[in-house]
Amino acid sequence: MITCCIFDLDGVLVDTAKYHYLAWAALARELGFDFTPEQGEATKGVSRMASLDIVLRAGGMENRFSAEEKERLAAEKNARYLEYISRMTADEVLPGVLAFLQGLRAAGIKVVLGSASKNAGVILDRCGLRALFDHIVDGTLVSKAKPDPEVFAKGAELAGENPAHCVVFEDAAAGIEAAARAGMRSVGVGGSPLLGRATMPLPSFEGFTFAELRNQID
Ligand code: BG6
Ligand code: MG
Repeated sequence: MITCCIFDLDGVLVDTAKYHYLAWAALARELGFDFTPEQGEATKGVSRMASLDIVLRAGGMENRFSAEEKERLAAEKNARYLEYISRMTADEVLPGVLAFLQGLRAAGIKVVLGSASKNAGVILDRCGLRALFDHIVDGTLVSKAKPDPEVFAKGAELAGENPAHCVVFEDAAAGIEAAARAGMRSVGVGGSPLLGRATMPLPSFEGFTFAELRNQID
């Protein structure tokens, strides 16, 4: 039985991963090194401060900054990221997402956001997605980053749903692991081979329906 679907935001509903990457790469350049797209993969699904550690490690600077300086660097990255997302429009919602979410609502399935981002609200508003969600759990509400299951457990709790009846949609390995640790099935969105542990893969939402989800994993 499936009664609730919980969605990661960045890389699942919208392609904001590219903006996170551009903002981190700009910070790295300022610090004097290159941060490659391949290195950027490891920041997916990971909290802002944990992502900063990944960037600094890539430049061999993991021990160079005090906690206060790291807060400043993360704030600088976030200011750049905000410049990108404050210009987003509904056109940036990934193909097939809107129809899939509307289909879930029509079928009486709870629709919940489970994102590590503290900027989730801005993105949902800019892209006109907020009204499609019954509950929103974002980085302002959780203290433990994925792969900790907190974000998804909280989503199920708010929705009043049994984790065994929830399905998580994720594009990051850390998120697939978090779903498993929350006792939930998962859909690995996008083509990454790192998502092999997901209950099922989904290259794109285009043409995908709730009926098909049920056929595949219920
Ligand atoms: C996740 C992204 O959704 O949110 C990560 O995949 C990001 O790359 C994390 O670091 C935190 O985002 P924010 O917007 O709070 O810096
Ligand atoms: Mg993601």
